[in-house]
Formats: sequence, C-alpha cells, structure tokens
Amino acid sequence: MAEQYSERKPQVMKDYVYVLGEAVKKAPELKGVPTGVEGLDNLFFKVEIEDGKPVRKPLGGIPEYAVVNLTGMPDTGKSLMAEQFTIKQASMGQKVCFVTVESPANFVAAGLKQRATAMGVDFEEIEDNIILIDAASNARLRDDIPTMLDTLAYVYRTYHCHRTVIDSITGLYEAKEMLARSIVRAFFNFMKKWYQTAIFVSQKRSGHDELSAEAAGGYAVGHIVDCSMVLSKEILLSASRARLFKKEVGDILRLFRIDGCRLCGHDTRIHLMEINELGLVEIKEPLVEYLRRK
Ligand SMILES: Nc1ncnc2c1ncn2[C@@H]1O[C@H](COP(=O)(O)OP(=O)(O)OP(=O)(O)O)[C@@H](O)[C@H]1O
Ligand SMILES: [Mg+2]
Repeated sequence: MAEQYSERKPQVMKDYVYVLGEAVKKAPELKGVPTGVEGLDNLFFKVEIEDGKPVRKPLGGIPEYAVVNLTGMPDTGKSLMAEQFTIKQASMGQKVCFVTVESPANFVAAGLKQRATAMGVDFEEIEDNIILIDAASNARLRDDIPTMLDTLAYVYRTYHCHRTVIDSITGLYEAKEMLARSIVRAFFNFMKKWYQTAIFVSQKRSGHDELSAEAAGGYAVGHIVDCSMVLSKEILLSASRARLFKKEVGDILRLFRIDGCRLCGHDTRIHLMEINELGLVEIKEPLVEYLRRK
C-alpha cells in the first residue's frame, strides 16, 4: 500500500478536512441504548448543565452507535449478555441483527427464547424483530469478509436494522490471529457506516490480569472499538475467600468492569456480577463498596 501511494503525486484531501463547527452538525446526539442487563445501564453517564453547573447524568444504556467489545474467558456470561441486549432492543421495537459464529442459528434461537421468557418478554411479539445470520453453519460467511459485509448490508437494507450483535468476532479470525486488527477494523468501520449500535463478543485469550482488556479478542483489538467490557470468574477454593463473599467453597465469584469507553463517561470500578437462577446476568455493587460494608 505504502509503495503504491509513494508512486503517486501527493494530493490534498479537502473532503476530509472539517471545521469543528461544521462537523458537530453531523455529530450524533449522546443517547443511551438499554442493554437488558440489570445494573449496567447507569454505569455510563454524560455531563449536562443544570442551574448553570455541569452535573453528571446517567446515560441509561451503552452509548448509541458505539461498538462495544464484550470480552472474557470461557463461561463468563458474554453470550447471555449479548442475548439479553438482543431481547431488550427487540422488545423496544428495534430490529436487531444477530450474527452467530459459534452456535448454529437454531441453538441461538432456543437461547433467545429462554432469555425472553426469563425477561418477561413475549417471544412471539419480538421474534420478527431479530434477524439471524448463521455464520456458524457457513464457512464462507466466516472466512470471506466481503461476503459477510455484503450479507450484513443486505440485512440492514431489508430490515432497517440499527443494532448488531456478533457472537463472536474472534470466531471470524480463528487460526489467523495476526489479521485480528484488520478484521476488527473492517467490521468497526462498517458498523459506523451503517449507524449500528454493536456488541462484538470476543474471547479473552489470556487469564493473566483477568479484568483487563489485554489479550481480549487478539492483539490490541481494544484500541479499535469504542468501549470494552470485561467479565471474569473465579472459583472460590479457599474457605476464607468463600466466607468473604458469603459463598461456599467451590462456588463461583463473578466480576465485571468497563475497561474504557471513548464516547462517554463511565464507572471504572470492579463490580460484583451474578448469573441469576433464570440465567440472566446482573451487575451488582462495586467490589470496593461490598468490602467496605463487610
Ligand atoms: N439458563 C441458565 N441458568 C443458569 N445459569 C446459566 C444459564 N445459562 C447459562 N448459565 C451459566 O452461565 C454461564 C455463562 O454462559 P455464556 O454462554 O454466556 O458464557 P460465554 O462467556 O459466552 O462463554 P463462551 O466463551 O464459552 O462462549 C454458563 O456456563 C452457565 O454456568
Ligand atoms: Mg458464548
């Protein structure tokens, strides 16, 4: 690429130079998109002027048009959260495009139905709002990015979708991890072009520093997306640690953290997290507050 450019005469790209006052006219308003995950939506905030003073206001969801990287080791609740987001948005009348890369569409449909039931949403009322792309069953959709992007564009055009879930983006570059950045970049840019609020699930490769986005979805993917949310779990093996969290030895302690968001303010603390008996992820109080109360 670099060689190609150097052979040409340099060109002034005037179309890509903006005065801020002009650019801001096209800037999207900062709005929250509810996630269907209890305890999560108010961890994002914006600043507004009230009585002449700047105050912090909860956003009530992830920022609209954000591309969110939802990452964690296996079995940490990523797919559950992605499904809750899908059901919640569909129940609000949005069309949601769900790209499944891990399980075939019929299994995802069963999961979504379960999640809807647990969330008290009538599945029949929302089933036509969710459009599945089954990349788990089709190698070309997984391996050939232009084919996947054309298929997504078809879905966006046909169903007027502005919400996209990809579970998982990591599944699109299995065995070619050195391409992770360019693949994630291509999907990120595509989401921006089509004004999608998107969740990219990614598998975290390294157990080192569980709650950082490092090694999440491959090398430096966290730098590309707008926001990263990290899930972790720990099996409580010591009696004292189990006691500290009012659990039994062998129980699971789940934690959650927003690792960064470039579109709005957010809570930066580690939070306790639970998967309740209905199979719904809930974000609980900050760990530091829990420990202070103890
Ligand atoms: N209906 C349910 N009721 C209770 N717990 C559930 C239910 N469904 C899933 N779980 C629990 O939630 C865990 C996390 O599930 P989930 O599929 O969201 O993990 P994941 O992070 O997507 O994992 P992977 O990386 O393997 O895809 C499961 O291992 C299970 O312990
Ligand atoms: Mg999963």
